[in-house]
Amino acid sequence: TKARVPHEEGLDHTISLIREGYLFISNRVKEFGSDVFVTRLLGQDVICMSGEEAAKLFYDPEKFQRKGAAPKRVQETLFGVNAIQSMDGEAHIHRKLLFLSLMTPPEQKRLVKLVKDEWKKAAARWEKLEKVVLFDAAKEILCRCACEWAGVPLKQSEVKERAEDFSAMVDAFGAVGPRHWKGRLARNRAEDWIQGIIEQVRSGELNAVEGTALQQMAYHKELNGQMLDSHMAAVELINVLRPIVAISTFIVYAALALYEHPEYREILQAGGKHDVEMFSNEVRRYYPFGPFLGARVKRNFEWNGCEFQEGMLVLLDIYGTNRDARLWDSPDEFRPERFRTWNESLYQFIPQGGGDSSKGHRCPGEGITTEIVKVSLDFLVNDITYEVPEQEFSYSLSRMPTYPESGFIIGQIRRV
Ligand code: HEM
Repeated sequence: TKARVPHEEGLDHTISLIREGYLFISNRVKEFGSDVFVTRLLGQDVICMSGEEAAKLFYDPEKFQRKGAAPKRVQETLFGVNAIQSMDGEAHIHRKLLFLSLMTPPEQKRLVKLVKDEWKKAAARWEKLEKVVLFDAAKEILCRCACEWAGVPLKQSEVKERAEDFSAMVDAFGAVGPRHWKGRLARNRAEDWIQGIIEQVRSGELNAVEGTALQQMAYHKELNGQMLDSHMAAVELINVLRPIVAISTFIVYAALALYEHPEYREILQAGGKHDVEMFSNEVRRYYPFGPFLGARVKRNFEWNGCEFQEGMLVLLDIYGTNRDARLWDSPDEFRPERFRTWNESLYQFIPQGGGDSSKGHRCPGEGITTEIVKVSLDFLVNDITYEVPEQEFSYSLSRMPTYPESGFIIGQIRRV
């Protein structure tokens, strides 16, 4: 049966993965004319798959597990070692419900209000500056707001460095060499800092406000009734703070989309809830951020002529599924209106994973992400005017993660 599914020839294709980046899986899906194929990466057979049906399969917890899927180097930078991303079964769901309880609509609102106010304060400062790199500004603002929202004390003098550390953890995920090491250093620094704060809360030295992420992580009990050790509590609190800072990437893409498609400015100015949300969704669909996800086969099974053998690594193509021509009309065009008639499938639009977030690994932060992108778009179109000087807007599809090279520079900023 093995022969029924395409096997990429050759000893190892890790170099191609590094070279082709976001397009690695979709290039081969096209070349082989198959949704699923087997290749070799880092010395092991790896199944790659793409599309809605593949996503449904990937989120079947009977077939796949996350334990042992993420390479150590990704855990040491992006995720944290043995954190929620690598958990399975009941223990995972229990931990997941904690995350979801922190991100309810009222909590989203509380965070979004902080972000809105910070954008306005920043605009006042920007009027005196010749230019602003939106990426850097967004990282700092989101770091300040995330910490305040979560109940984590943060001095003004620390904001820039902490924001840089959270970003460096994300920036390291597809990196080898210096960018990887920068991410590891950043993670070590952040873990020491947050672990110290968790310990201060537990010792009564620091008062944590009831219901904040800090307080909830500090006192969370696992299924066995025991509290997380202070290091794991810190790792999971960082799993709340870091991704909020990472929304800066989507904010920069949103600004780029506005620049590339100025006809939407007026529509967004009118502020129709649905219009802003469609635009924000299209930003998350169209622009590259998460490239693919990994899991390990739990037990042998066959699917579409492919033998999934226990223990094999399987990659699900995020970027390619979001641009799958069977699911999206003109997938390579930026067209927010497509979301007007979208069927809300949990497995087609997967910039932050697929399936039901409370039952699997799908990102618990999509509500927060959408709301922060929306409030930031509203700020860009309604609260300020700016000019966009000549710069390098392009982003490389072989760098993972990627973003517009210039970080999106704006100038001549005036408050409306
Ligand atoms: C998981 C993307 C924002 C917290 C994930 C996953 C993706 C993702 C692809 C993995 C899904 C899977 O493994 O099946 C993103 C992107 C974001 C973002 C592109 C935009 C910046 C956020 C925010 C938060 C958050 C704002 C929290 C405040 C998490 C957590 C997980 C996760 C805790 C692990 C969930 C689990 O393993 O069960 N995210 N996310 N993310 N995300 Fe996000």
